[in-house]
Amino acid sequence: MSLTDLYGRKIKYLRLSVTDLCNLRCIYCMPENGVCKKSHSEILSIEELTDIAEAAYNLGIKKIRLTGGEPLVRKGILTLCRNIRDIADDIELSLTTNGAMLSEMAKPLKDSGVNRLNISIDSFRAETYRVITRVGNLSNALSGTEAAIQAGFDNIKINTVLMNGFNDCEIDDMIAFTKDNAVQLRFIELMPLGEAKKLCHSCYQSVSEIEQYLRENAQMTVDGVARVYRLPSHKGSIGLISPMSHGFCPTCDKIRVTCDGKLKPCLHSKEEIDLRNLSGDQLKAAIAAGVTQKPLHHHLASGGTDTSRGMNEIGG
Ligand code: 5AD
Ligand code: SF4
Repeated sequence: MSLTDLYGRKIKYLRLSVTDLCNLRCIYCMPENGVCKKSHSEILSIEELTDIAEAAYNLGIKKIRLTGGEPLVRKGILTLCRNIRDIADDIELSLTTNGAMLSEMAKPLKDSGVNRLNISIDSFRAETYRVITRVGNLSNALSGTEAAIQAGFDNIKINTVLMNGFNDCEIDDMIAFTKDNAVQLRFIELMPLGEAKKLCHSCYQSVSEIEQYLRENAQMTVDGVARVYRLPSHKGSIGLISPMSHGFCPTCDKIRVTCDGKLKPCLHSKEEIDLRNLSGDQLKAAIAAGVTQKPLHHHLASGGTDTSRGMNEIGG
């Protein structure tokens, strides 16, 4: 069983947002005062999230990523991880987190069947990290990352959204960080949706200059949406994710589900398919129908994003 969209792209990857809440307030993602907490009944229960993961698995999706907001603030997250692991051993279960709670959560996540972690760290300078996250402490993210390594997670990816005027002065340091740290540090271009729309005109910076340097010094491999370079003698690698300057729509293999139960065929699409109150074959049919609504590409270059949702609701 496998899912194919109208343009022949095989859909293999589900990103499941488990909450739109977060313990940080990153300037490109969350409003300064946070978002209104949805009522309990508005967000998918752990059972509903499990059912969606199972239906997707039965449709041939073997890669599931839990996102947020911040997935670790969601009550029941470990139960959800265990439930998904119980569906099948061959699910590649990963999670994107800001790392702030990983010191306590890394080991339980590992024990609950999570295979891989992506950790968002936009600056390695304490002051800049605080400015970008508004309330975060870099030391928590770093000790969380260390705890994840100690818990046995390997192939950890660190997500860094590149922002002119904030962290562009750290690019060399970040590349140097991969010399002794066996992580993939990924520079991501800022996309104009939600809160980031206000920032993009002054902060957007393409990854092309970094790529020019890397191309001259390292071989490139492709890892999902990232172009990955490993410099000679570096334990880690550098990934470049360029939704703006390159665009990876032709190879997109993803669908997303928001924490209130809407399937989004594309990160930027306004179409949403309601998955709530469905189960069994009906749920599978709704997911399959959503796949047929995947657009060929987003419209960022022509008219901008079509979604009115923020990144905290979609999960990247
Ligand atoms: N553009 C690019 N990346 C973003 N992220 C959140 N908002 C944006 C945006 N507007 C990143 C987060 C996280 C990942 C899921 O997406 O920093 O690392
Ligand atoms: Fe939280 Fe991630 Fe959004 Fe930052 S980018 S506010 S860490 S959900």
